[in-house]
Amino acid sequence: MAEYDVVIIGGGPGGYNGAIRAGQLGLKVACVESRETLGGTCLNVGCIPSKSLLHASEMFEVARKDFSGLGIEVTPTLNLPAMMKQKADSVGQLTKGIEFLFKKNKVDWIKGEGRLAGPGKVEVTAADGSRTLLEAKSIVIATGSRPSPLAGVEVDQKRIVDSTGALVLPEVPGSLIVIGAGVIGLELGSVWRRLGAKVTVVEFLDRITPGLDQETAKTLQRSLTRQGMSFQLGAKVTGAAVRADGVDLTVEPVAGGAAKTLSADYVLLAIGRQPVTTDLGLESVGLTTDKRGFIETDHFRTAAAGIYAIGDVTHGPMLAHKAEDEAVACLELIAGKAGHVNYDLIPNVIYTYPEVASVGKTEEELKAAGVAYKVGKFAFSANSRAKVNHEGDGFVKVLADATTDRVLGVHMIGPSVSEMIGEYCVAMEFAASSEDIARTCHPHPTRSEALRQAAMGVEGWTMQS
Ligand code: FAD
Ligand code: NAI
Repeated sequence: MAEYDVVIIGGGPGGYNGAIRAGQLGLKVACVESRETLGGTCLNVGCIPSKSLLHASEMFEVARKDFSGLGIEVTPTLNLPAMMKQKADSVGQLTKGIEFLFKKNKVDWIKGEGRLAGPGKVEVTAADGSRTLLEAKSIVIATGSRPSPLAGVEVDQKRIVDSTGALVLPEVPGSLIVIGAGVIGLELGSVWRRLGAKVTVVEFLDRITPGLDQETAKTLQRSLTRQGMSFQLGAKVTGAAVRADGVDLTVEPVAGGAAKTLSADYVLLAIGRQPVTTDLGLESVGLTTDKRGFIETDHFRTAAAGIYAIGDVTHGPMLAHKAEDEAVACLELIAGKAGHVNYDLIPNVIYTYPEVASVGKTEEELKAAGVAYKVGKFAFSANSRAKVNHEGDGFVKVLADATTDRVLGVHMIGPSVSEMIGEYCVAMEFAASSEDIARTCHPHPTRSEALRQAAMGVEGWTMQS
């Protein structure tokens, strides 16, 4: 039996960051991962391949539609296999990078399915069926999440795909129906629309991207509609019939009324994700999950002594950077240090065009909590850099406490906002007021000036024309 200070089950952003941090802290650590490569959902079938296709498809669309506006005449043609290959190459390099970091930080990667086998014990079953028992003072569960199923719509990864299948479609669909107007549906729907598919998004609620600031969500929907994506809101899919060359979906209005049939070449099911907690041997240490399958934690500690849980398998946003922050803090606590995650300041990004980025409270949340706030807003159409780049869609909105001026929330939709939200994360972590941002010199001409102008808008001295 191999003995460790820490055994981590799962090699995604939670697991691999935790394992590396454990190595840095001098702990003897093993990470159990059943995939062929490290990096979990994020690197293999999530963040990284989706962003690769989003970038490549955006370049294609820009070349096709926007180059002529810059005085560049080209007629691009799509080479889908080459686009898929460059995506796979990036993924391969990044997953290999984690393997390198494991070696550098003396992390043992134990390949196979991990299962709790009583307090302090993890049994690993390798692909060839052989078993190894690991003993550990602390065990961290970081088994992540998988796509949620929908009754009546069976994913076959051929005609009806989940996010994993949508990253490797063999052709550009003539038509694609996306079930769910959440992050995955809008990002991967955008990829295939840009490459030529007619995309229809069917959403249960009467709005897209639940949880996102309403005004931002409406602006995003308008922009995606202008780009050619169509939306059927307040509609539920109740069944699917797969044909040789497509799918017929039965769709009913949520408010009641007659069902109709929607047909497409392919269907992407993206109605959320659920934690991976089945077959983990939780009962062997007296652990249960909540009704939705999540492991409940208090500062990463589960109800079982010496067992911790982090990332998608626990409550909170299912985001790679949330899993990563929890991993670092959890391992620091295990090592006797003071690990901490500020759940109020976990940024959220949607990598569509325009991009959406937010951190902190939404207007709806502040109203519900009875907090008096001021709003500063700046449109990218008045930002010189966005203007010369022909990227005037969207705005930055800053919400600040009406009494103290402390920034409580920031919501941006526009060009490259994913790269700019970090400024507000840092500022808010340091309890900045909107005036702190408003009086900080920003380089000209940059899109980042819109961040400052929105903060100036809180006190009404924005320079917007
Ligand atoms: P995971 O990454 O799911 O890793 C868990 C790992 O555990 C997996 O590799 C799994 O094989 C392994 N495992 C499970 N059970 C066992 C077992 N019993 N034994 C051994 N190994 C096991 N988030 C962002 O922040 N930004 C994005 O842009 C983004 N884009 C995304 C795009 C898509 C298409 C998807 C699907 C997700 C995206 N996410 C994004 C979400 C992000 O991928 C997850 O939040 C993140 O991967 C969670 O990390 P984790 O370590 O908790 O779990
Ligand atoms: P989601 O929770 O973002 O959106 C799911 C959508 O499906 C919601 O709008 C919901 O109302 C709708 N829905 C639920 N049931 C439905 C039904 N029966 N019919 C029609 N619509 C239905 O989930 P999604 O898009 O699957 O993403 C899963 C997770 O992955 C998210 O929590 C997100 O955090 C993470 N992710 C993050 C990304 C990022 O940070 N950019 C990118 C992709 C995924």
